[in-house]
Amino acid sequence: MTEVSLTPPHGQPPRPAGLTARPPLTLAEEHVLLLWQVTASAEKLLTAIEHGRWPDAELAALAGYAQAEVLRQVSDEEALLFPAVPSQTVAGLARDHVRLRAAAEFLARAAAGDQPMSPAQLAAAVRDFVVQLERHLRNEEDLLASGRAQHDVPGTVTLGGHPHEWYPLTEGPVVDLDALPADQAVAAAVDRLLRMRRGEQVELQSGTGLDPASGTGTVRMGSGAAGELAVTWASRTERADGKTSPEELAAAAHSACYAMALALRLGEHKAVPERLAITATVTLDWAGGVPTIVSSHLDVTASVPGLDKAGFDAVIGEASDLCPVSRLFGGAKITVGATLEPAP
Ligand SMILES: [Fe+2]
Repeated sequence: MTEVSLTPPHGQPPRPAGLTARPPLTLAEEHVLLLWQVTASAEKLLTAIEHGRWPDAELAALAGYAQAEVLRQVSDEEALLFPAVPSQTVAGLARDHVRLRAAAEFLARAAAGDQPMSPAQLAAAVRDFVVQLERHLRNEEDLLASGRAQHDVPGTVTLGGHPHEWYPLTEGPVVDLDALPADQAVAAAVDRLLRMRRGEQVELQSGTGLDPASGTGTVRMGSGAAGELAVTWASRTERADGKTSPEELAAAAHSACYAMALALRLGEHKAVPERLAITATVTLDWAGGVPTIVSSHLDVTASVPGLDKAGFDAVIGEASDLCPVSRLFGGAKITVGATLEPAP
């Protein structure tokens, strides 16, 4: 293993020179963000070891980030960037990815207590992971640029990959949806739910304001991923007129959640979809004398090279079992916390 000294990162993730505050759009920018997050976690872990403490929480955080974000980037690069480059060019990068997957799995086993080791051995493994990642990212930027300027190599997110800036906004026991970009809040929240650890509880928070006289109001996503959405009772029962409804939001949540569950299960079977489109139709009807969401129907259209119908149907079944929003529609217990504010 290679011994290195990590430079302690401080403050916000650095951005390449000349960048304004915007999401990482190039491969080099994505790599800067990934490496910063990994180095920051590694530094906290090494500091805990230096102080004579076994770094349970720091190891869980580093292993979680490596599993969720580093390996996601690896998969996205293989699916979205590697096919456009001659195979001999990316052969070494693909071997790096195998080693990164093994290193991330090692950290996950260590975090789970399945890999007994001394603090010194853990520190060496973590330093080795950071060095391995840094070298790979640098090589990858050079090789994939192949004559172009590095800032001309698109990031995976611009090709439909996973945005890494969701992770720090959603990691933790409470996710403020109103703090996420409004058009990404549902997807980011579902992504968080799908990476929940055993025994973990996650609380999603968001706010809605409604004028009781007119029946109109606004819905805010805590993430900030989408702007305020106008909502009205008429959009549920008559015409949308450009306004949304709880049923439409439920359908958006269901289709986004199911799409992620399906993509996750397909990935586990090494099946990379070329196209995945899911539509959810949520129906509001009278049942038992009260308006009731009686059904949510999902239409799934997918193109998955190398997967036959039987295999696809099997993965559909696995995704249906996984999707947390499907279970919510399946009769979840609903509780209400009510606070009456004092009259002015
Ligand atoms: Fe890579």
